[in-house]
Amino acid sequence: MIIVANWKAYVESEEKAKSLLALAKRLSKQPRTRIVLAPPSPYLGLLAKGNKTKVEFAAQDLSDTSGGAETGEVSAQALAGLGIKYVILGHSERRARGETLEQIALKMQHAVAHGLSPILCIGEKERDAGAAYLLLLRQQLASALEPLSQAERMKVVIAYEPVWAIGGTATDSPQDVHEMALYIRKILSDFLPGTANARIPVLYGGSVEPENIRPLAGGSGLDGFLVGHASIDSKMFSDLVKALV
Ligand code: PGA
Repeated sequence: MIIVANWKAYVESEEKAKSLLALAKRLSKQPRTRIVLAPPSPYLGLLAKGNKTKVEFAAQDLSDTSGGAETGEVSAQALAGLGIKYVILGHSERRARGETLEQIALKMQHAVAHGLSPILCIGEKERDAGAAYLLLLRQQLASALEPLSQAERMKVVIAYEPVWAIGGTATDSPQDVHEMALYIRKILSDFLPGTANARIPVLYGGSVEPENIRPLAGGSGLDGFLVGHASIDSKMFSDLVKALV
């Protein structure tokens, strides 16, 4: 199981970042557990540089340019040079700030060109009765995957995060999560040959907490979770990871 800890902008001190890393190191010794930390960029640089532990790192975003005269941007090359393995792309909090499908597709291409695995976030704002949300998910996946070669697509991790379930206000039912994971794998099969879609990790995110992680994981076909607010509370994060074993 892959647990991606999305620290968002919650962590604002070096002390807190280092204590969460120490916890992640201890928890990553559990069998069948891979912990990926996604700190805000100053702490990403601090913690990931020279990392020799089992803990892996993700950036929370990257530039849709290849660097140069782009004030405020962080290029894929700069991240790859730090030994970072993953980058979260298309998070709903970035899409809400105006990030377009085209920009996400460009970021995907920059990421894979520098050996980073994109954790592509997709998710609907609401589950409408007319099921338009299913088409939206297909569009979010298709626009990000189409420009990539088949070999590059095999580097992608999908994180299904219904926007309405993010932030600790509402939780999806295990049954619905299970069905959505199947639906996502079915769409992936349009972009990959044979049974390769089964090898793409599909994660779930949206108010994942110690109390619901087990029912969500059970028999769901998921490969892990993208955890926000519960990943920056030491007790919650530790209980959540231990609940999976
Ligand atoms: P949450 O955030 O766990 O706080 O709902 C998840 C995410 O946005 O990645």
